[in-house]
Amino acid sequence: MTAYPITDHSYDVVVVGAGGSGLRATLGCAQAGLRTVNITKVFPTRSHTVAAQGGISASLGNMMEDDWRWHMFDTVKGSDWLGDQDAIEYLCREAPTAVYELEHFGVPFSRTEEGKIYQRAFGGMTTEYGEGPAALRTCAAADRTGHAMLHTLYGQSVRHNAEFMIEYFVIDLIMDEEGACRGVVAINMDDGTIHRIRAKLTILATGGYGRTYFSCTSAHTCTGDGNGMVLRAGLPLQDMEFIQFHPTGIYGAGCLITEGARGEGGYVTNSEGERFMERYAPSAKDLASRDVVSRSMTIEIREGRGVGPNKDHIYLHLDHLDPAILAERLPGISESARIFAGVDVTKEPIPVLPTVHYNMGGIQTNFHGEVVTLKDGNPDQVVPGLMAVGEAACVSVHGANRLGSNSLIDLVVFGRAAGLRAAQIVDPEEKQRDLPADAGEMALSRLDAARHANGSTSTAELRLKMQRIMQNNCAVFRTGEVLEEGVKLIKEVYDARNDLKTFDRSLIWNSDLIETLEFDNLIRQAMVAMYSAENRKESRGAHAREDYPDRDDENWMKHTLAWLDEDGTVRMDYRPVHSYTLSNDIEYIKPKARVY
Ligand code: FUM
Repeated sequence: MTAYPITDHSYDVVVVGAGGSGLRATLGCAQAGLRTVNITKVFPTRSHTVAAQGGISASLGNMMEDDWRWHMFDTVKGSDWLGDQDAIEYLCREAPTAVYELEHFGVPFSRTEEGKIYQRAFGGMTTEYGEGPAALRTCAAADRTGHAMLHTLYGQSVRHNAEFMIEYFVIDLIMDEEGACRGVVAINMDDGTIHRIRAKLTILATGGYGRTYFSCTSAHTCTGDGNGMVLRAGLPLQDMEFIQFHPTGIYGAGCLITEGARGEGGYVTNSEGERFMERYAPSAKDLASRDVVSRSMTIEIREGRGVGPNKDHIYLHLDHLDPAILAERLPGISESARIFAGVDVTKEPIPVLPTVHYNMGGIQTNFHGEVVTLKDGNPDQVVPGLMAVGEAACVSVHGANRLGSNSLIDLVVFGRAAGLRAAQIVDPEEKQRDLPADAGEMALSRLDAARHANGSTSTAELRLKMQRIMQNNCAVFRTGEVLEEGVKLIKEVYDARNDLKTFDRSLIWNSDLIETLEFDNLIRQAMVAMYSAENRKESRGAHAREDYPDRDDENWMKHTLAWLDEDGTVRMDYRPVHSYTLSNDIEYIKPKARVY
């Protein structure tokens, strides 16, 4: 192998990824006096959180009575009882504090007449434990909430002297012989230099893996790099079969039209002009949870009531709303609809289609952000030195289906929790331990193999194949037959990695090389997602099996854990759902039928 000179660095904490959770964790660690570096493959304010539109949930009660317990009930029901209730209690209880902190950090929230944070309706958010009217719980900065949060959190992190390594790509974790994480190895994409970052704590905030699919609302950078690293480290990923389709991606382009559009009064119609959600969710209608709306739209299209020349999409109407409200509260999506669909939202409906949006599964953690794994019969054994937050993590608060606006609150509540935990477990005075003798060798072999790959298939070709298989074989509705075929096809793509060819051998801004490393992360996640989906023989949340249409609590109220061996063997195990709360302030919410 070519020798790659290495530059060594030493920190208390290294955070990988600078989206909402990564920046919130970075800020927390820096505030706690820990020497913290954030390492990110894009400039922080270009991280995918910037695309988050509709808002962040918290029971502030600014526009109607609200209660964190009602938020918890909705989240448990939304998760189709696969979420861990201790973690959900933590999320919903801490949400108001986390949002007020954001306000004080400087996030420019939209305001009510009295100057309070503006809150809108979102799918599945109700009052009175599902018995009352829709909750106004989603705090918004127009429809650019993620953008506002990201800029504020980056500014605050810099203010607290966090350091940043920007446009560096992390190749792999450094794990020691005891199974502890000791830092990461990265390449500076600008000059090709290699960096070994030793840290007492590594926090993965690397986002989801939407780009395993052909059509998604996720940025091209959403390749789930941390999840890939965790699989290579011999750790499992949890609940990877649960993949969320957002009902309103723009037809053709896939860009997001926020659920906030329906929160402000928008509705969907079929080719007969019918507001069909009234049939599927008589109470919540267009504000049912996302899995329900996406499935209803898919059924309408399948039964021949789609719109357009090919009857293959649905209309979203905002044209009945006051143009002044659209300009004030939904300016971003009005612009997206104009650019990507050629539609003036004040006059015409927007053509939309369910589009891959979010991954409920990811790296198994507890509610402090610590990575845990099944070891010696203990399903919650902490992996020393490693945390995960945000979409990369599976705490699990979203279970089988996430409610809209529960993602941004997940980012800040658990990013903040990671900072608080880091302050307890990392001693800035403690001397760094020496690294294992071979630290970084695996990462460099991986880099070198990708750089000199000399087979016959380009990365773009193989990636497209994977994306089409995921799109066709792991869709809104699933059957055993289609999933079994998916397992076979995705394994073929996994094996074809050995025949990849990279065309650029340089180390300076080599996008061919970086995309090959990203593809290697993606295909590993596609493997465990497809196998996990084939394995789960029930319907729950976003996992809708036509051959097993019912939820089966007796056999399947458990989290899937999936490991991937290098030869492509996927191994499965399970861990119980936490059916207990953190305090006596709320009782365990018992499973029941999930109707909206
Ligand atoms: O529709 C949206 O604005 C997306 C929000 C979310 O995924 O939480």
